[in-house]
Amino acid sequence: MCGIICYSGHRKASQVIVEGLKNLEYRGYDSAGIATHTEQSIEVEKGEGTIDEVIKTGLNGDRGIGHTRWATHGKVNRTNAHPHTSSDNSVSVVHNGIIENHEELRKELGRERFKSDTDTEVIPHLIQDELEETDDLQKVCRNVMERLEGSFAAVALLDTGEKIAFKKGSPLVIGDAGDEIFLASDVTPFLKYTDKAVFLEEEDYVIVDEEYTIYNSGEKVEREVEHIDWDAEEASKQGHSHYMHKEIIEQTETVKRAAFQDRKDLLKAVEMVEKAEKVYITGCGTSSFAAELGALYLREAGIQLEVEQSHELEYRKDQINKEDLIIGMSQSGETADLLSLLKKTDASVLGIVNVVGSTLDRDSELSLYVNAGPEIGVASTKAFTGQLAVLKLLAAAADNNIEEVRKSILETSDKIPKVLEDNDSNIDLISSYLSNKNDAYFIGRYKGRIVSKEASLKLKEISYIHSEAFAGGEFKHGTLALVEQGTPVIGFMTEDTSSETLSNMAEAKTRGADIIGIGNVEDTGFDYFVDIPEDNNPEILQTAVAQLLAYRTALKRGESINPDKPRNLAKSVTVK
Ligand code: M6R
Repeated sequence: MCGIICYSGHRKASQVIVEGLKNLEYRGYDSAGIATHTEQSIEVEKGEGTIDEVIKTGLNGDRGIGHTRWATHGKVNRTNAHPHTSSDNSVSVVHNGIIENHEELRKELGRERFKSDTDTEVIPHLIQDELEETDDLQKVCRNVMERLEGSFAAVALLDTGEKIAFKKGSPLVIGDAGDEIFLASDVTPFLKYTDKAVFLEEEDYVIVDEEYTIYNSGEKVEREVEHIDWDAEEASKQGHSHYMHKEIIEQTETVKRAAFQDRKDLLKAVEMVEKAEKVYITGCGTSSFAAELGALYLREAGIQLEVEQSHELEYRKDQINKEDLIIGMSQSGETADLLSLLKKTDASVLGIVNVVGSTLDRDSELSLYVNAGPEIGVASTKAFTGQLAVLKLLAAAADNNIEEVRKSILETSDKIPKVLEDNDSNIDLISSYLSNKNDAYFIGRYKGRIVSKEASLKLKEISYIHSEAFAGGEFKHGTLALVEQGTPVIGFMTEDTSSETLSNMAEAKTRGADIIGIGNVEDTGFDYFVDIPEDNNPEILQTAVAQLLAYRTALKRGESINPDKPRNLAKSVTVK
């Protein structure tokens, strides 16, 4: 994971970098660091903790690099924080990804030169050694690129003030603001300065001085300059206490944006689905739940397909053929488990993705965009409901009723604020109740089963309360044994499944559970109840309630919890 940024221009680099790193902090927040260039030398400030805790001195210089870390190799401490510097202090490097042959390189470069336990540190030493042989930067980059195995996006600041960058397997984007040049893991750190982005391709390397030049395999290459229509303001909290809260509230808009899929693209996607011998839909985490719901929507539209989480589906790669189609679900478009699966099969790919220009987007024959705008909170919220809207439209396109379904999604999106407002005090009460619990069980049936999985993931990931989700029908086949006096059982009900789910909740209540109902049913016998109005897309409304419930519960668990940055996690999981 990790976020990297590099700046050169006329501003104070440390200020631009710190500000940009805050937009990338969702990629990891174990440690942070910065290096700037001043009169032929490099100054470094780094340490364990958040950007504000670590970077304080306002280093001088108009060019520099910055890093926010999600640790893979080496403990979380100052020594392992990036940037890492060559033994002669002439090269400083920030890196996102994994250098797989780092052990071999460490041995070859001389173990005594190394200060940290990281895989990254091989890069500055390699560059230093190459620079001792030649001052032709193109050659240096090419040789370094050839020596590194694994997946990496790395930027090196040299004591001459020049910068070199490498991209293989991990994302790296150039922000071109004319006399200011950025390189970053995604576009959010430079959106404030420019909407012009150049997405680097596999094995590209770049030399940046006053301008940037891109090379691949020793040849100078041109890459297209793309215009990003995300608004910089969208990547700020806009007065909300957390990104997660802002992203829950703005779903009334983002679901609408997702619903405005281009008809032609939807029909093209249906053509891909119908042409395929076999169709798979896959993703990880929250995106895997979107995939599960998507499979139900598509089956209802007469399309047969398989659904499996990407890391598991990879074990069946040999069964996936060129004539097959994989529908890849991802907010970031950078999730390593999904990208690795796609790399190992030669099936066609239909991406349903939020981040335009991401690896999934670029690796897909066709992308349907979720259009949720930047999602910064680590817990996925608006991207999930946007994914559901896109999947519903895809199924509708297969069923020849795009406009009817689009209209119903727009109606649902209008109801989100009212559902949250009308249930505000209830959600508050339930979150106070849950915040004192150690365990919670979520149940539902059919689509409600998948909503309950997403609700459970949201609660556990940000409040650290242990929770499980399963089909209501499964309860009495084992887990009911865990129910005792005061155990919370939360049930999602929709009209078609409510009577059975109610029975499962009643069975739990008889054994002492406190039962919490979320749905469009009569409030009979619940300990707590959240009323969802009748709607064609209840999953979207129920999910919004579950998100707010998890958010409020997390806040009530104490100040040490920041729902935007849950412990041990990062937003973009770019390692397997
Ligand atoms: O960017 P992606 O949608 O591919 O990310 C997949 C998961 O890592 C992600 O959904 C994760 O489960 C979220 N933290 C859940 O809130």
